[in-house]
Amino acid sequence: MKRLTVPAIRARKVDGATADPIVMLTAYTARMAQLLDPHCDMLLVGDSLGQVVYGLPSSVPVTLDMMCAHGAAVVRGSYHSVVVVDMPFGTYEQSPEQAFASAARILKETGAAAVKLEGGEAMAETIAFLSARGIPVCAHVGLTPQAVNALGGYGARGRSEAEADKILADARAVADAGCFALVIEGVMEPLGVAITQAVACPTIGIGASAQCDGQVLVIDDMLGMFERVPRFVKRFANVADTISATAAQYAQAVRDRSFPGEEQVYRPKK
Ligand code: KIV
Ligand code: NA
Repeated sequence: MKRLTVPAIRARKVDGATADPIVMLTAYTARMAQLLDPHCDMLLVGDSLGQVVYGLPSSVPVTLDMMCAHGAAVVRGSYHSVVVVDMPFGTYEQSPEQAFASAARILKETGAAAVKLEGGEAMAETIAFLSARGIPVCAHVGLTPQAVNALGGYGARGRSEAEADKILADARAVADAGCFALVIEGVMEPLGVAITQAVACPTIGIGASAQCDGQVLVIDDMLGMFERVPRFVKRFANVADTISATAAQYAQAVRDRSFPGEEQVYRPKK
């Protein structure tokens, strides 16, 4: 199977409708990418790896080095999905030139096809700048976790009419600037619908609406690796319990010397 392309993803939405919803999950490692790849259209190397992989308190401290290392691993582990790598906080907001340098480094070092950045009207010029220079951009509006210090938390956005209007304006601005897809995170459901109807590019919802043109979840959340998850997460499995129970079995086997057994030891031929 040939790898999907950014234009193919963009083209999934025709005259405002997407017959075949876009399937996206995050991945941070090569083996996970390998497992998810056949089932997805896009793999996102999210800066959520700050919390998920590195135990950081937010995505704010995530570095370009981290994104490049994990982005390269996910590209190596996949052959079908479009790989999108998040631009970390502080590596693109200053100017279109700063964003271009960071994004070019990501594409060169990872082999990914696109970058994602957070922000609306303030980022429109940068999105146009990158898009005109061969770097496809996925935008991200609504709850934008890199702005946690400004937003004061991770609550859903667009509760007031004024805030909903601002987020809709943000979505229109990034779409007009040429983003090939738009992640909408943590907004009131009607706003997710309104944005999806307002923009020509596909919308990818996470805590937005079932009417978005696709959906994305953080893989560890979806697998049930965490006890506490946002309302918008559905835990499709309970992998945390499987891992705990398996570690307990191993510990018991070491302690009672039933592991390693005959099958796991090397014996010289007689
Ligand atoms: O970093 C991330 O995982 C993301 C998704 C939740 C959209 O940005
Ligand atoms: Na992110």
